[in-house]
Parts: sequence; C-alpha cells; structure tokens
Amino acid sequence: MAFNPKKFIEQTTEEIKKQIGKEHAITAVSGGVDSFVAATLAFKAIPNQMHVIYVNNGLMRKNETEKVVETAKTVGIELNVIDGKKRFLEALEGVTDPERKRKIIGEVFVRIFEEEAKKQNVTYLIQGTIAPDWIESGGMGRDTIKSHHNVGGLPEDMNLKLCEPLRELYKHEVRAVGKELKLPEVVYQRQPFPGPGLAVRIVGEITEEKIKIVQEACEIVENEIENAAKSGKIEKPWQYFAALLPSKTVGVRGDERSYQYTVVVRAVRSLDGMTANFSHIPLEVLEKISTRITNEIRSVGRVVYDITNKPPGTIEME
Ligand code: XMP
Repeated sequence: MAFNPKKFIEQTTEEIKKQIGKEHAITAVSGGVDSFVAATLAFKAIPNQMHVIYVNNGLMRKNETEKVVETAKTVGIELNVIDGKKRFLEALEGVTDPERKRKIIGEVFVRIFEEEAKKQNVTYLIQGTIAPDWIESGGMGRDTIKSHHNVGGLPEDMNLKLCEPLRELYKHEVRAVGKELKLPEVVYQRQPFPGPGLAVRIVGEITEEKIKIVQEACEIVENEIENAAKSGKIEKPWQYFAALLPSKTVGVRGDERSYQYTVVVRAVRSLDGMTANFSHIPLEVLEKISTRITNEIRSVGRVVYDITNKPPGTIEME
C-alpha cells in the first residue's frame, strides 16, 4: 500500500501523546529534514511538554545556525540555541578514526541534551531517526556500515528515554510528511545533511582551518549546482557537497610551487540514501566549481570529482 502521510501524522501524534504521557521531552533540531519533521510532529502532539533546542557543534555549514533559527520561527518553534562548538572541537582534537569521531559526536550531543533535560525536568529525548540510520548502524546480525550519531553513536549510559516517531520511514516519506505538515518547501525539500555535520566531510583530523575550507567549498558547490539546475543544465542531484582530503598535493600558483589541500566534489542521485549513483554533472559546471574553489580558497590547490556509486562507496566520506 502507498504511504499515506496524513494517516501517518494522525497515528503518530496519538502515539507520541501516549508514549510521553504527562512527562516532558526535549527535541533537538539540526536543520535537517528529519529532525525538523520530528520536532513539528511532537509540537503538534505535546506542545506544552516539549523543549526544542538547537546545538551548534561548530561543524555546520556556513550561516546555518542563523538559517535554522529563522526557519523554525516561521513554523512557530522558538529554538533554544546552545553553543557547543568548543566542547565538540576539544573532544575531537587529534581523532582520525571515522567511527571514533561519530561516537564522540553522539556522546557530546547526548551529554548536552542531558544537561538541558535536567534544567527542564525532562525525561524523554525525541529524535528524528529514520530507517537507514539504524539499518546502517548495524546490530541484529547486520554489519555496522557506519554508526549514525543518533543510533550507534549514543552512549550506553544515556539517562533519557527515547521517542523516535520517524523510525520506520525513508527520506522520501519524511519529505511527504513535511509537506503534509505544511512546513516551508526549503525545509522538506532540503538536501540531506549528516548529523555529525562537516566532521564526516573532513577525512582524518578536524581542525578549525579545515572546517572553514569545507564550509566555503560546500557553499560554492551548492551555489553552482543550484544555479545549473535553475537554468535547466542539470536535474538537481539528491545530495551535493564538498569534502576535504587529509593529504596535500603539489601545484603551481603564479610562478611558484604550491603544496596544498585537495577538495572532493560529490553529487549523487538516490531515492533513500541506501544506494546512490554519482550524478553526471556537465564538465562546464564542474570546471566552474573547480575554478571558483581554487581561486576563492587559497589553501586548496586541487579539485577532484567523485565518480563512485554506493555501493561500493558511501555518500559521505566517513
Ligand atoms: P552514507 O554516507 O552512509 O549516507 O551513504 C547516507 C545518507 O545519510 C546521511 N548520513 C547521516 N545522517 N546521521 C544522520 O542523520 C549520520 O550519522 C549520518 N551519516 C550519513 C548522509 O548525508 C546521506 O544522506
């Protein structure tokens, strides 16, 4: 049977009411579709028993925090913004292993949620976990592809009960629910953004310099791809972004030798993120992206386009 978003909303708001009862819940909005839809559903179900927060982990895209706060306002949600940047970056210092990064991020998020929950007498955490998050996180005989920060990245001693209203849904179904909830199109049509943020787009150690490079590069990729889609040169990919490799390569700038970072441009077609094919972006669009990145980000000397499908690759680098 086809997915019916209206019915889903009716049933799920009832289930949330039943599960939370007279207790209070905290929900964290990340700016992505899933957490926004989960928060809006919860707001519908238990408006006077929930506290909505936004944790800035310092690993968000350029100007993302401001955009998320504004968007939340348009649907009547006032966000409590928590600046966690220092805490996340200190915890991640020197860490290169992708799974450790994910676990650290999951743990710091939860510790912040617990602290906020204590202040508000909250016992539940409402999360926008969707099916691919727990499928890829492994367990029940499945291999761990990657520990999604909101599943395999959760610490075992977390003292909040979980409520996950979107657990059985895939991304396209979450978008349909967002549309039915009358969220702004910029929210429900937004390309996915991983919970651990740019941490999984910086291969290896995370530094402030690298975060800045990826923020700038992501913005260029997003602008150029969206412009190309608007002018009819391409169909908008399902997801498109830039990532940074840990190794430097040799180049020339003017008459001088350079030794600089490599940026990877990634754009994929997909339905639910479980499998994906790289997008066939015209070379003129890729050339514009490459020229802008090396001109505007002076510490990047090389740009490559990722032509790997999923499987065997994944969409993000880590
Ligand atoms: P991968 O890289 O596993 O990504 O092919 C599939 C989709 O999931 C997003 N992604 C995440 N989303 N928490 C999330 O909420 C995570 O830890 C996470 N890791 C990957 C990714 O951006 C892609 O859309």
